Amino acid sequence: MGKYIINGGSTLHGQLVVQGSKNAVLPLFAGALLTEDEVVIQNCPDLLDVQNMSRILRSLGADVERHGNSVKIVGKHLNSHEIPVGLAKELRSSIFLLGSVLARMKKAKVAYPGGCDIGIRPINIHLDAFRELGVRIEERYGYIFCDASEIQGAPIAFDYPSVGATENVMLLASGAKGMTTISNAAREPEIEGLQDFLNAMGARISGAGTPFITIEGTEHFKGTQYTTIPDRIVAGTYLIATAVCGGEIEIIGAKPAHLHSLISKLTKSGCKILVDNDNIYMNVSGRVAAFDKIETQPYPGFPTDLQAPLCTLACVARGTSSIIENIFETRYKHIPELIKMGARISVIDRVATIRGIERLSGAEIAAMDLRGGAALVLAGLNAKGTTIISDIHHIERGYQNFDGTLAALGADIIKV
Ligand code: EPU
Repeated sequence: MGKYIINGGSTLHGQLVVQGSKNAVLPLFAGALLTEDEVVIQNCPDLLDVQNMSRILRSLGADVERHGNSVKIVGKHLNSHEIPVGLAKELRSSIFLLGSVLARMKKAKVAYPGGCDIGIRPINIHLDAFRELGVRIEERYGYIFCDASEIQGAPIAFDYPSVGATENVMLLASGAKGMTTISNAAREPEIEGLQDFLNAMGARISGAGTPFITIEGTEHFKGTQYTTIPDRIVAGTYLIATAVCGGEIEIIGAKPAHLHSLISKLTKSGCKILVDNDNIYMNVSGRVAAFDKIETQPYPGFPTDLQAPLCTLACVARGTSSIIENIFETRYKHIPELIKMGARISVIDRVATIRGIERLSGAEIAAMDLRGGAALVLAGLNAKGTTIISDIHHIERGYQNFDGTLAALGADIIKV
């Protein structure tokens, strides 16, 4: 297992092109199984999660081949409806496959995805919606057995706008007879990405990006070529890194509108940010000001996936910040590691109070999860002395060539 060794203190300067979005591309892989034809997904990031999703698709009988930045998926010879336990455990997003495997093969068997490092993460919203569409579900011995031989579109009202449940229902209802509506749907940009992709395959979905989505079922899906949207969380992480280190960067190929909540917070705290259609330019000199209060919320609120990187920034901001994590119950695993680096943080329930200090100190620490791990890298970039971060496989699940990109911007970071 690799480690990052970071000597902190460099400012960041230069340009980077943002990778395709992990959270947008994983449901596209599931959607590709709706057709026997060839689907080509362009701007597909090369990440551990994407590699694991490819392995699961292959285990179902699909051909999956990567050529540079594109992945070709052909689901002509699907021969299994069972998502293997070992692989499902590696990748929580394998749960999306339930919707598309059911739409295509009318039955599916999947191991119950257990709790994970950031929260309990139940799937009750997915399963309740599937039942409303007529899926018969049995839960036995840690497996979920589903039969969708008699599914029919239906009106579905979510109690909470779950991203994964919205995507799963879009996938399943696209192949159900009749009309499905989802009210209180998630509005994340990844949902719009999935709508555009499925419509290019022949689905009839409208409303993504609003809380009300309409899906008219069809049996005719065709192959397509589709370009994955840029990764707003990765772009946001590099913006926060620059706010932590100081410097001047330009992010090419981002969608600034997807980062509105972050850009507004960073601007208020003293970062100079300019945006045009697809690029974000940022200039930071000196320590930024603390944040009064930041609460994570479903989109378009402040994203939970940027809470950990923002915590690092609050650690070195001028003044005291307060951060409230509303989405996941245990998404503060980076905080004990930041405290080892000298951060002044106290946590009561879901509220972290962070008193900014001039600079963190290098330490030997471990990444506990994906975004928390990225936050520790940002802390190492700021810290005086050397920081060694272990368990970086968590970080590589979501950031392509993180060390190389940061080094190209001037950071002193190597992977060993
Ligand atoms: N929830 C339930 N029941 C459900 C589904 C969700 O109680 O059936 C709860 C969850 O436990 C959580 C909250 O609702 O407390 C939000 O969950 P949601 O379903 O919206 O999230 P997700 O689909 O599991 C996706 C991203 C996450 C991101 C969240 C929120 C993917 C593959 N994952 O997860 O990304 O944090 O939306 O925006 O799209 C990451 O990239 O690091 C990551 C964790």
